[in-house]
Amino acid sequence: MNEQQRKEMSQIKEVSSSDKKSSGNGNLNRLKQMGSDDLINKYFQTTYEPPNLKKAKKRRREEVQIHYDYSVPEDMENVGKGKKFLIRTYGCQMNEHDTEVMAGLLTDMGYESTDDTKEADIILLNTCAIRENAENKVFGEIGHLKPLKTENPGVILGVCGCMSQEESVVNRILKKHPFIDMIFGTHNIHRLPQLLKEAMFGKEMVVEVWSKEGDIIENLPKVRKGSTKAWVNIMYGCDKFCTYCIVPYTRGKERSRLPQDIIQEVRHLAAQGYKEVTLLGQNVNAYGKDLKDMQYGLGDLMDEIRKIDIPRVRFTTSHPRDFDDRLIEVLAKGGNLLDHIHLPVQSGSSEVLRVMARRYTREEYLKLVKKIRTAMPNATLTTDIIVGFPNETDEQFEETLSLMEEVGFESAYTFIYSPREGTPAARWEDNIPMEKKKERLQRLNKLVNKQSAEAMQEYKGQTVKVLVEGESKKNPDILAGYTERNKLVNFAGPKSVIGEIVEVKIIEAKTWSLDGEMVEKAVEVK
Ligand code: 5AD
Ligand code: SF4
Repeated sequence: MNEQQRKEMSQIKEVSSSDKKSSGNGNLNRLKQMGSDDLINKYFQTTYEPPNLKKAKKRRREEVQIHYDYSVPEDMENVGKGKKFLIRTYGCQMNEHDTEVMAGLLTDMGYESTDDTKEADIILLNTCAIRENAENKVFGEIGHLKPLKTENPGVILGVCGCMSQEESVVNRILKKHPFIDMIFGTHNIHRLPQLLKEAMFGKEMVVEVWSKEGDIIENLPKVRKGSTKAWVNIMYGCDKFCTYCIVPYTRGKERSRLPQDIIQEVRHLAAQGYKEVTLLGQNVNAYGKDLKDMQYGLGDLMDEIRKIDIPRVRFTTSHPRDFDDRLIEVLAKGGNLLDHIHLPVQSGSSEVLRVMARRYTREEYLKLVKKIRTAMPNATLTTDIIVGFPNETDEQFEETLSLMEEVGFESAYTFIYSPREGTPAARWEDNIPMEKKKERLQRLNKLVNKQSAEAMQEYKGQTVKVLVEGESKKNPDILAGYTERNKLVNFAGPKSVIGEIVEVKIIEAKTWSLDGEMVEKAVEVK
C-alpha cells in the first residue's frame, strides 16, 4: 500500500467508524458530503462485500443466536409523537411481513401511519430485487420522491429490503440520489430506531447493510395489515442457490425459528381472532434442517399447528426437492391444513432444471405430484415458471407447456428470466432474444389462463367456504374473499360478515375469480 492509498484508507475508516459487523458495509456517513466517486469506489473495494457465491456457501458453519429481549431504545420511544410514516412495499409476502415489523417499530416510537406522501414525516421503500423490472419500479419511485424532499427537507426518506443488499444499488443511490437519508438491509430491520436517530440528528446519509445475516430476533413489535389473515415467519433465508436467484444473497442463509416460538405466535393469533395464518419462508420445506439435534421438519411443525384452534393454515413457498413424505402424510390429515399447494416448478425440461440447479428432474417432479394427489385427491396445485432461461430451446419450452397441462396447474406466476448480478446464471450469455422470450411468455400465459378458467368452471353450482376479507376493489357494494383453495370470490352480502367464514354458492365463473351468492351467514369451522 503506498502513502496515498494509506491516507485514503484512513479517511474511509473514519467514515465507516460505526460498522457493526465485520463483513457488513457499515455506515457511510459523510460520503454524501465528500461526494467523491473515487472515495465511494474505494470504500466498496475495501470494506463492502458484494454477493459472493463461494463465501455465501461457506456460511452454514456460523452459529445463529436467538434473542428474546427486544425493545425500542428508551430515547426513541416518543420521537414520533404527532408524526406519520408511510412504507411502500414491493415484492413477496416476506417483504410485506417485514413492513409489518417496521410499522410495529415505528408505532412503538409514537408514529402513526398514513397513505399520503405529503403528510408523511418518514417514507420507507421496502424493495424487491428478484427481477430487473422490480428494481426499475423502485428507482422510478425514488425519482418521484425528489421534489417532495425539496419541498419538505425535513421528511426522512429511506430505502430498505432486498435491493439494499446489492452493492450496485447502494452505489447508485449514493451517486445519483444523494437526497435519500437512509439505506438499510434485510438483516438489520430491528436497528431501525437507531438508524432513524442517526438520520434525524445527523445531516448525512446513513447506510447500514450487513452482508452477514443477523441473528433471529424474537418479540419484534408488529402492526399487522388487517385482523383476519396473518403471516408468520417460520424461517429466514435460503441455501438452495438456484443459479438465477438472488434471494440466497439478499436474505442470507437458512435460519429456522424454534417450533415453540412459532406455535406460541400462532396460538396468540388464534386467541386474537385471526382466521388464517400463512407460514412463511423462502424455502419452507427446509424448515428445521439447521435446528441441531432436533430431527424436526415442516411436517412435524404442521402436525402441531393443525391442532391449534385457527380455521385456516397455509404455507409458502415450497421447494419440490425437500417436499417429504412426512409433510404429505400430515397435510393429508386435512382439518385446518388447506389443500392448496404452491409448488414452483420453474421449467418442464430436466435439462433446464439441471442448469437452474433445481436438483430435481421433470420425472421426479411428476412423481411428487402423483404422491401428493394420491394422499390429497382434492389438492389444488399452483406454480411459478421462468421462460427464456439462457440456452432454453424451443423444444425445452414446449416441455414446460406440456408439464403445465400434465400437472393441471390451476394457476401459475410466470416470468421472463432476468439476469441478476452476482448469480451464476448472470455470467452466462443471455442468448434468447427478448422477442422470443415475450412470445414464449404469451403462449404460456394463454395456457395458464385456459387452465385457470377451466378450473373455475368446475366450481359453478358448488357451495364453497369463503373467508371474507372486505369490500371488492371494483365495487364497494360487493364483498370479496378467498376459498380454502385460494380462489377469489365476489358476492353480495352484509358488511357484518367481513372477517368471517361464510358459505357462498357459485353462480358465475370467470378466468381469475368466481361470483356467487351467500347462502348462510357464518359457518363454524373446526
Ligand atoms: N428471473 C426471473 N424470475 C425469477 N424468479 C426468481 N429469480 C428470477 C429471475 N432471476 C422467479 C421464480 C421464483 C419467483 C418468486 O420468482 O419463479 O419462484
Ligand atoms: Fe431462490 Fe427459491 Fe431457489 Fe431459494 S429455492 S434460490 S428463493 S428460487
